[in-house]
Amino acid sequence: MNDTARNHILVDYPRDCWYVVATAAEVGYGFTARRVLDTSVVLFRLSDGAIAALEDRCAHRPYPLSAGHREDDFIVCGYHGCTYDATGRWVSVRSQDNPPSSARVRAFPVVERGPFVWIWAGTPGGERLRPPPATPWLHGDGWTSVGERREVAASLQVLHEHYLDLSNVVAMHPEMVPPGIEALPPLEDVEVSEVSVSYRRELPEAPLAPWEAEVTGLDDATVSASFGRTETGTFVTPGLHKQTYSIIGATGPALELVRTHGFTPRSSGVTHVFLQISWRGASVSPDIGKQLIEVFHAMADRDIAVLETVQRCLDEDPMPRRYVNVKADRAAVRARRILTAMVEDERGV
Ligand code: FES
Repeated sequence: MNDTARNHILVDYPRDCWYVVATAAEVGYGFTARRVLDTSVVLFRLSDGAIAALEDRCAHRPYPLSAGHREDDFIVCGYHGCTYDATGRWVSVRSQDNPPSSARVRAFPVVERGPFVWIWAGTPGGERLRPPPATPWLHGDGWTSVGERREVAASLQVLHEHYLDLSNVVAMHPEMVPPGIEALPPLEDVEVSEVSVSYRRELPEAPLAPWEAEVTGLDDATVSASFGRTETGTFVTPGLHKQTYSIIGATGPALELVRTHGFTPRSSGVTHVFLQISWRGASVSPDIGKQLIEVFHAMADRDIAVLETVQRCLDEDPMPRRYVNVKADRAAVRARRILTAMVEDERGV
């Protein structure tokens, strides 16, 4: 891989990876149709509570199964009535006694874990080599979460790079920055493995920003003190980014926040974003979810506007261009190399 390749934005994404296809709440008796990894998928919940995920194209003609209907745990195509079971096997056809032998649609492995439903749409059988990433902060151990799904007209790589360099927060989201802090400190630790990148930094002590005072639930006497903060960001897999933000007072953490992004390519230039905000803290009100999702939804609006503009600029560039990196880009550059290596590996380059 040469430097030009490393500095240019990918126009592809790894397929051999678990990605979030839906939230658990989105999948019920009815069909949830979603396009992921340039593939149409239909999801539905079976009578035993498990989730089936089939390619959303009938094997007979190019017609979406999600336009059909259910009969118990079977899915009936709305065009000529061919019926499939939850494993994708074509079990009956109205016009003859038996369907063509071995006719089927692809069934995708899915794992439901906390708020996320993960899908493996890569090389068949590859899912047995690695499970979806563990996300214990999304389900249990004192954590509470709220979430939303967005669709962003930008590539997987553009999104990962953005969220691995939060030095943009001061310029883009000044209301989120504690009073008196004019620039985020440099990344102290950037840890890299073959498949993941993480960084950590500490902020100097400062009073609480208004949003922090609101969500920590601290009383008026305490809220005027200064607090430390630690922030971490991790490229866990191509499908998952985790950012933590802890506000630490004299007696320990006042609030621990985790912002989780499930990033799932719809195509090379469009990405589903499954955002979850998780929190725990002794004085935090149990109903701060509404405030938190409002705060982070507004942040996401501004992020999305910039990310889609970046993607437009990339698409307009007729030739690969070398962009100049600064120290704050260390983690993002490593993530880009991992993504590029994964894509090249899948292509056999
Ligand atoms: S297209 Fe589905 S049964 Fe014909």
